[in-house]
Amino acid sequence: MTAFERSVGKALPHDSAHLHVSGQAAYTDDLPEPRDLLHIAVGMSQQAHARIKSIDLDAVNEAPGVRASLVADDIPGDNNFGAIVADDPILVDDEVLYVGHPIFAVAADSVDQARKAARRAEITYEALTPILDTRDAIEQASFVLPSEELTRGEPAAALDKAKNRLQGSISCGGQDQFYLEGHIAMAVPQEDGALLVYSSTQHPDQLQSMVAQATNRAAKDVVVICRRMGGAFGGKESQAALIACIAALMAVHTGRACKLRLDRDDDMIMTGKRHDFVIDYDVGFDDDGLIEGIDFMLASRCGISADLSGPVNDRAMFSCDNAYFLENIHITSHRCKTNTVSNTAFRGFGGPQGMFAIEYVIENIARSLGKDPLEIRRLNFYGIDERNVTHYEQTVEDNIIHEIVDKLERDSDYVARRDAIREFNCNSPILKKGISLTPVKFGISFTKTLLNQAGALLHIYKDGTVHLNHGGTEMGQGLYIKVAQVVADEFGIDVDQIQIMAADTSKVPNASATAASSGSDMNGKAAQIAAARIRSRLSEFACRHFSIAEKDVSFAGGRVTVGKESVSFAELVQLAWADRVSLSATGFYKTPRIHYDRATFSGRPFFYFAYGAAVSEVIVDTLSGENRILRVDILHDCGDSLNPAIDLGQIEGGFVQGAGWLTFEELWWNASGELKTHAPSTYKIPTCSDLAVDFRVQLLENAGNREDTIYRSKAVGEPPLMLALSVFFAIRDAISSDKQPMPKLDAPATPEAVLLAWEDGAS
Ligand code: MTE
Ligand code: HPA
Ligand code: MOS
Repeated sequence: MTAFERSVGKALPHDSAHLHVSGQAAYTDDLPEPRDLLHIAVGMSQQAHARIKSIDLDAVNEAPGVRASLVADDIPGDNNFGAIVADDPILVDDEVLYVGHPIFAVAADSVDQARKAARRAEITYEALTPILDTRDAIEQASFVLPSEELTRGEPAAALDKAKNRLQGSISCGGQDQFYLEGHIAMAVPQEDGALLVYSSTQHPDQLQSMVAQATNRAAKDVVVICRRMGGAFGGKESQAALIACIAALMAVHTGRACKLRLDRDDDMIMTGKRHDFVIDYDVGFDDDGLIEGIDFMLASRCGISADLSGPVNDRAMFSCDNAYFLENIHITSHRCKTNTVSNTAFRGFGGPQGMFAIEYVIENIARSLGKDPLEIRRLNFYGIDERNVTHYEQTVEDNIIHEIVDKLERDSDYVARRDAIREFNCNSPILKKGISLTPVKFGISFTKTLLNQAGALLHIYKDGTVHLNHGGTEMGQGLYIKVAQVVADEFGIDVDQIQIMAADTSKVPNASATAASSGSDMNGKAAQIAAARIRSRLSEFACRHFSIAEKDVSFAGGRVTVGKESVSFAELVQLAWADRVSLSATGFYKTPRIHYDRATFSGRPFFYFAYGAAVSEVIVDTLSGENRILRVDILHDCGDSLNPAIDLGQIEGGFVQGAGWLTFEELWWNASGELKTHAPSTYKIPTCSDLAVDFRVQLLENAGNREDTIYRSKAVGEPPLMLALSVFFAIRDAISSDKQPMPKLDAPATPEAVLLAWEDGAS
């Protein structure tokens, strides 16, 4: 037989790449519109905190094209879309809690008519005092969830004893997901009161539950479908439910198909973002820079409700070690309730903020001792056989951070470049260069153990082609092609023989969100299990049919070899069908080896860790505060990559998005609690011109995974975002060249922040 190439491990293009670039990929708004479709607009609160005295929608209802309007009282079921805590009304009728809080919805014949009508509402308020600042929330004990604490070792004693001690306060900003496709849902009434909902969502199952509860239906009466999203980045994990519930409620109310598509401004005002954090630290260390004790206070702006803030802040607590062994540590975590939009998941999910905290501390230790931060990082890394237990009692069994950092340091020529930069800065009074190498260790799994489950459904048709369904959603990350590669290899066929189907709650039930970077880990395994079940039926049949022993059957290159016989996969399928063999199967997977006690913050929440490191070199103009990233070297661990082309894209994209978070993406609210950065005109996201001039990304070779993941690959969706911490610390390095101590610099390092820090250092 000729050499047969497996699909897994090949750099195949994204399954929809040709559709993306030619504009043929159908997003929810591109689907053919049902006859009589109504378009919805949402009426939002104009006040940050107020009691509603009256809602007068007469002018709205009389506006041209308007067919119906909807307020809280019209909701037949639960007025809530909060999945973990039921504290998130779909439409508010008593107390509005942020500027943008949905109060009513209006449906009209056109989008324009609906939007114009929505503005005609007469709503009167009795103003209440808002809390807009996280520190104020702490002071007033305004929390969406109880504060949490974690202690390991004897932090207080270690801090007292330590020869050196540093204390300070820092902050890092939030971030809008800025997916290209905004939130959207279209609800279409079906027979007997059933509903079909098309939505741009990472979590179809949750939408199904929330829509069912809000419209007073059973889950069986609601189907949710999502073929793809134009980006999600965590923003469509929980909050797509709000949009879907409004569309579904209006469809029930009017008996007509209804679509709600938020425009960019409404999307940015109404839906949640990355949590900004304020952080206090107190660290004790010896003269070498070894951390002996540390105390962190991590407080996040959760906004008005719990949403996913519990698990986000838990992950921040789990991540504030990054790659370092913190023997004596105490963490306080406040989940602050503020009168701003409810913050939610965003790539990294609290991890970036936790890592920002410890990396900032490491840099300050280095500067106070006059040492290179890389030396302090190495000294504090987790050990291999000792100093290897995290503060939540998980043993780090797969530590490869030493080898990654050693290799990257060599490949990037870090030492020589640091010397060259020092030299450059001596002779350059205005333009200053900086360099930084930062590591990443990121825990893979949902921290809530029960979410680590996935299902798949496979059909083989008589001609040998395959329909592939699983619970995962496609948001551009390449999950669907990866799972198709796995299934192709199970049957020894080409990926072209597989039709990748939309995420659909009627095909695969009860699926977790596609999140926590675990999409391919979990759905890959579930689909493999389903495929293996059909293959074993086919093998068994083949042996019977050709009268040979089962071990002599192999599936490769589109053919099935049965002893000395060889038939095409399609021929075998045809014969099996004729023999009445079932050609359809489900697969179910649950991540093994994980357990975790939320009450004590201890256990083994993560199946394994993904690692990486980056070196960034920047140049800063100390007159304007602007910077350019001159060169980036990344070495990232994807285990044995399922698809190196996709993984490379995830690393590059994650890094650039992280750099945006840390440098110029700035959310700004005015004193009345209005978000003033709600469009690309005021909120700057990275563009091509912000890319590093010299961008070198390598996947760690022969990396593998000591855990039995799908083909020993590793999750890649979120970890690379945190590699961008190197950009932030390179900027700080540039503006602190040879100044003692380092200037205070909060994230994002906008030109304004950089100038203030520069002056602070000079004074
Ligand atoms: N990549 C693209 N292109 N678009 C996205 O929305 N989301 C990220 C990441 N990469 C995202 C992306 C986030 S937040 C997660 S959790 C993972 O993809 C989810 O997909 P996975 O688990 O299949 O990696
Ligand atoms: N990551 C992303 N989404 C989640 C998580 C997590 O750890 N837990 C619950 N939703
Ligand atoms: Mo990603 S923030 O886990 O959706």
